[in-house]
Amino acid sequence: MSSFTSTTGTITATDEDRTLKAKHAAMWASGDYPAVVDRIVHPLGGILVDAVDVCTGQRVLDVAAGTGTSAIPAARRGAEVIATDLTPELLAVGRGRAEAEGVDLTWQTADAEALPFADADFDVVLSSIGVMFAPHHQLAADELVRVCRPGGTLGVLSWTPSGFIGQLFATMKPYAPPPPPGASPAPLWGSVEHVRALFGDRVEEVVARQQTLQVAGFATGADLRDFFKATYGPTIAVYRFIADDAAKVAKLDAEIAALADRFSDGGVMPWEYLIVTARRREERP
Ligand SMILES: C[S@@+](CC[C@H](N)C(=O)[O-])C[C@H]1O[C@@H](n2cnc3c(N)ncnc32)[C@H](O)[C@@H]1O
Repeated sequence: MSSFTSTTGTITATDEDRTLKAKHAAMWASGDYPAVVDRIVHPLGGILVDAVDVCTGQRVLDVAAGTGTSAIPAARRGAEVIATDLTPELLAVGRGRAEAEGVDLTWQTADAEALPFADADFDVVLSSIGVMFAPHHQLAADELVRVCRPGGTLGVLSWTPSGFIGQLFATMKPYAPPPPPGASPAPLWGSVEHVRALFGDRVEEVVARQQTLQVAGFATGADLRDFFKATYGPTIAVYRFIADDAAKVAKLDAEIAALADRFSDGGVMPWEYLIVTARRREERP
């Protein structure tokens, strides 16, 4: 076991948790997540940064930042940004992209469930389709709130349970290994009730909006499925788990293609997500 001290106390990581997080990092490093960003999710970062209205000079933390889909637009607005993620390979891609664009920000490997920052260190704490993948939701939410200063802003964008990615995870679940103890399903962060319960009365001025990302460029559900099988870590991990069972692979292939076809409306798929913004409550004397 190892531990580090935050200003609120001691955060302890067990060997079991470190093994789990190493597995998660390897999963997100597999395939080609940067291609998913480029082809599909890249607009979400700017949408979240607009929703929290990042301003020049603010100190901003992007949690589970990946390649900096939100962190880079935040830095473009003149904020002092730290992009953190479990997966150093994705941060390296983001760093390269930011340097190529001449955008200045800091990249740091960190677990959303044990952020290596002092209490109240940031004016804005945000995460786009990121913190939802940390397995222990309450731990991660507590960390987001802890590092945000009183009066500061929290912004979280997550896929909803009923939207395409939520349904993709539901479809893959029977084929996936059992979740680790204490883990909650990622798309729960796409439910406003869940997020309200996680943040509790430590935040106020909670605003929640359900929106859709229009996903085009895939002629059929099978095309989208094959793109995900080649690029998206969680899908790759499930297929690796069932690789020895050809019947299961064929069944999952058919189910994901059918799901994608069901979501397609004339070749465009609206993927639903939830944005929650909130203010960290000022401490009362
Ligand atoms: C779907 S990607 C989103 C990345 C980026 N925010 C974006 O909008 O493109 C999910 C990210 O969560 C990261 N992640 C998963 N579990 C994490 C954890 N416990 N702590 C920090 N990052 C984590 C992964 O490494 C991956 O970069």
